[in-house]
Amino acid sequence: MMEVKNISSGYGKKQVLFDVSLQVDKGEVVLLTGGNGSGKSTLLKCIYNLLPCWSGEIFFEGEKVNGLKPSDLIRRGIVYIPQKDFYFENLTVEENLQISGHSLPKPELKERIAEVYELTGLTNFRKRKPFDLSGGERKILAFGMGLIHNPKLLLFDEPFAGVDAKNTATLLKLFKETIINTENSVIIVEHKDDARQLFTQKTKMELGKIISK
Ligand SMILES: Nc1ncnc2c1ncn2[C@@H]1O[C@H](COP(=O)(O)OP(=O)(O)OP(=O)(O)O)[C@@H](O)[C@H]1O
Ligand SMILES: [Mg+2]
Repeated sequence: MMEVKNISSGYGKKQVLFDVSLQVDKGEVVLLTGGNGSGKSTLLKCIYNLLPCWSGEIFFEGEKVNGLKPSDLIRRGIVYIPQKDFYFENLTVEENLQISGHSLPKPELKERIAEVYELTGLTNFRKRKPFDLSGGERKILAFGMGLIHNPKLLLFDEPFAGVDAKNTATLLKLFKETIINTENSVIIVEHKDDARQLFTQKTKMELGKIISK
């Protein structure tokens, strides 16, 4: 489904990724682990073209996708949920879901929001702002905003960080219902073991290189 081939990248003159290669098949859950600063978030940013690749290639469903804008990647089915600040603090949950799906035709957006409410249980929070949600509830909102696009491949940076047992269970259920049971794929960046029951491939990074699979 996605093939990342020999990616090198970094910030300014500082190289962070060194010849990183990774393959994600349909229905696969890839867990990307590695210490702080090992380049996990940087790799997701490169795949999503928020940071240019210095060299290397990225293929999705057989086509080269390097250099495509995030909006084009979303249209193809790739959705990225960053480690932090995915939502607008001054908008309600409902408005955040609307903004996330602003590129969709109105009737489709309405349907997608209804489905996301049903999947996530965010209905009770529709009028609240992220400031008035717990950390775990905010992660569920971030997931919901990604799910508006019905992703074929989700890139999710630390979905379980700061999330308690109850909301972890909700997130795991969401991964199962929206990704695993439907043969979609996900790259999860995570330090904790919460994703253990989900992943089909564990990939470890160190100093900007993949060191084990
Ligand atoms: N905008 C930036 N400018 C310069 N250096 C950066 C920038 N963003 C990240 N870095 C550096 O790139 C390296 C890799 O950072 P990255 O965020 O990819 O690590 P990570 O593996 O996601 O770590 P963590 O587990 O702490 O989230 C770090 O040394 C970091 O300081
Ligand atoms: Mg990170």
